[in-house]
Amino acid sequence: MKILVVGSGGREHALAWKLAQSERVQTVFVAPGNGGTELDTRLVTVDLHEPQALADFVVAEHIALTLVGPEVPLAAGIVNLFRSRGLKIFGPTREAAQLESSKDFAKSFMQRYGIPTAKYETFSDAAAAHAYIDANGAPIVIKADGLAAGKGVVVAMTLDEAHGAVEHMLADNAFGDAGARIVIEEFLAGEEASFIVMCDGKNVLALATSQDHKRLKDHDQGPNTGGMGAYSPAPIVTPSMHARVMREIINPTIQGMARDGIPFTGFLYAGLMIDADGNPRTLEFNCRMGDPETQPIMARLKSDFATVLEHACNGTLDTVELEWDRRTAVGVVMAAAGYPDSPRKGDVIDGIPPEAPECVTFHAGTRVVGGTLQASGGRVLCVVGLGDSVKMAQKRAYETVENIHFNGAQYRRDIGWRGIK
Ligand code: AMP
Ligand code: GLY
Repeated sequence: MKILVVGSGGREHALAWKLAQSERVQTVFVAPGNGGTELDTRLVTVDLHEPQALADFVVAEHIALTLVGPEVPLAAGIVNLFRSRGLKIFGPTREAAQLESSKDFAKSFMQRYGIPTAKYETFSDAAAAHAYIDANGAPIVIKADGLAAGKGVVVAMTLDEAHGAVEHMLADNAFGDAGARIVIEEFLAGEEASFIVMCDGKNVLALATSQDHKRLKDHDQGPNTGGMGAYSPAPIVTPSMHARVMREIINPTIQGMARDGIPFTGFLYAGLMIDADGNPRTLEFNCRMGDPETQPIMARLKSDFATVLEHACNGTLDTVELEWDRRTAVGVVMAAAGYPDSPRKGDVIDGIPPEAPECVTFHAGTRVVGGTLQASGGRVLCVVGLGDSVKMAQKRAYETVENIHFNGAQYRRDIGWRGIK
């Protein structure tokens, strides 16, 4: 069969890389892809962006199913469009994607179904928001309601910061419509983990757990980013924690969406905060896989992913059991100079080694220009090492990272530290 992967990041490169390993797959197309998907002879990169054009391409090429990586096309209704044309696609509808595309939708849904999350209120009036902050004190968290490419959350440690964030989002209109409403919520302390499952509308299949590193610098310092590295599995999600998250968060979410007449299909990603007493709460939902979590997760998946996806599209995920590599995978992101505020483009990249059983490099913001590979976006590469311990996997990843070169490259040196601690 032929498969189409929609997106251009490291997540999509990893998904396509895994799908191409299936003996049942003849061709994996990636649209619009990146320099890495272009250089990978097992993948076919196509320069298409618009959902209608993608659907036309799927019809013309007799593509069996489509997998969507990023949230933006999902929130815009690519799944609704494909289904209306009778095309198989794995992802949530526009309505179900609101779990990610509207923080207010997600919060009121969680409140209605008793899913543990931070206490909150929604505002569109700045004066009311300021008063709420004064009444509740800092630290406190301000979130733009809509999609803001990972930039819409301010964890304010002081009242000044909190009031500033409200001004920025509501008064200065920094995020346009996405920030016309804001959610203000209680600050939660603890350790984060990424809990990602696949859903076919009724059945749920959990993927391996992982942990992201959102801050730019070592020791979780510096500004928030899309994610500077991730590793899998996350030791904080013990088997009993896993069972509890399924029982208290994932299953009620899937059942609640079905009850509300918005059955959830696709990847559901619960960003968890686990407090010192071991209670998990939902910080956010994403309606897609994580980036960079996908890269270490796909590196550990042993099952035939194309077959799993077919079951996911056919509503038979209950018949699937996933097999995982027992090793740990550590993915280190190499970002461009100036990331996250103003990433520089055009730096020439060299030193990427060929794929090896214990190390693979996924591309994100790269492109091929006149035969040379260049940085073309914020997060440029994600180097994934595999090893019997977090330390071993780290060592493998960093050996490769140190041999890859582009001017101004930024990367953290401590990816996986919580797993070693
Ligand atoms: P989000 O996009 O909602 O996941 O938020 C981005 C990051 O902000 C999360 O990964 C957390 O590190 C942090 N964050 C979000 N909500 C809270 C909260 N209620 N308390 C503490 N930190 C938070
Ligand atoms: N790595 C965080 C995200 O994908 O949202």
